[in-house]
Amino acid sequence: MRLKDKVALITGAGSGIGRESALLFAREGARIVVADINEAGGQETVARILEDGGDAAFVRADVSRAEDCQRMVAVAEERFGKLNVLFNNAGIMHAQDGDAESTSEEIWELTMRINLKGVFLGCKYGIPALRRAGGGSVINVASFVALLGAATPQIAYTASKGGVLSMSRELAVIHARENIRVNALCPGPLRTELLMKVLDTEEKRQRRLVHIPMGRFGEAREIAYAALFLASDESSFVTGATFTVDGGITAAYVTPE
Ligand code: NAI
Repeated sequence: MRLKDKVALITGAGSGIGRESALLFAREGARIVVADINEAGGQETVARILEDGGDAAFVRADVSRAEDCQRMVAVAEERFGKLNVLFNNAGIMHAQDGDAESTSEEIWELTMRINLKGVFLGCKYGIPALRRAGGGSVINVASFVALLGAATPQIAYTASKGGVLSMSRELAVIHARENIRVNALCPGPLRTELLMKVLDTEEKRQRRLVHIPMGRFGEAREIAYAALFLASDESSFVTGATFTVDGGITAAYVTPE
């Protein structure tokens, strides 16, 4: 088992990438703290892990709130004795996030609070716990849009993910000598709720698919496998990396017919 005896805290684990990672990490031997603002989704993830013979606990947490982030870390240490893996995955993509002229300050601030400040707060309270455990792995979810301009504008989302990517690099350098690794995971477009809610017509989906060399959306499970590598000791020399899992989208200039 690739995560035997490890304790992993995953934010946004009530759906999509977070849930698939929680299920996969648990199958690989980790005990999981499932943190999400969505109680029903989070509880379902926990139930599925328990059914599978694993161990997990749910904590209702809004990652944009300091006291919630403190609590989710405390749950890991109180319930499972330590924290080895911090997976800052929770994020939103707002339907009214557009170009600079059309996007309201409220949408900008909401997106920054959850996507960027949420990762900062996860690290602020999670890193001391990793240090107490003798080191660990932080995985911050950025996006391919931190590397490329988006075909359809989403200014707040794109800026928030750029922030996650550069913040992850600095964290990696600062904490490298403490045996704390920090990597940014940059998924390409995925067939999860987050994106499918925005690409809600066949025409919009096709317009996005045109840019992906593989010609399909990725699955949450395919990101979970990348996260598993970054979480495990197999990636012991990997820190400060931009870990791209995107069906080739960032490699493409034109895509094959
Ligand atoms: P999803 O919408 O399926 O899951 C996101 C989860 O985060 C949900 O369970 C939601 O309740 C939770 N969440 C939202 N706000 C929260 C908050 N304030 N506090 C705690 N939990 C909160 O989305 P998906 O696709 O699994 O996204 C996960 C991450 O991957 C996000 O950071 C997203 O930006 C990123 N990403 C997604 C891509 C895609 O195409 N789906 C591409 C690149 C990155």
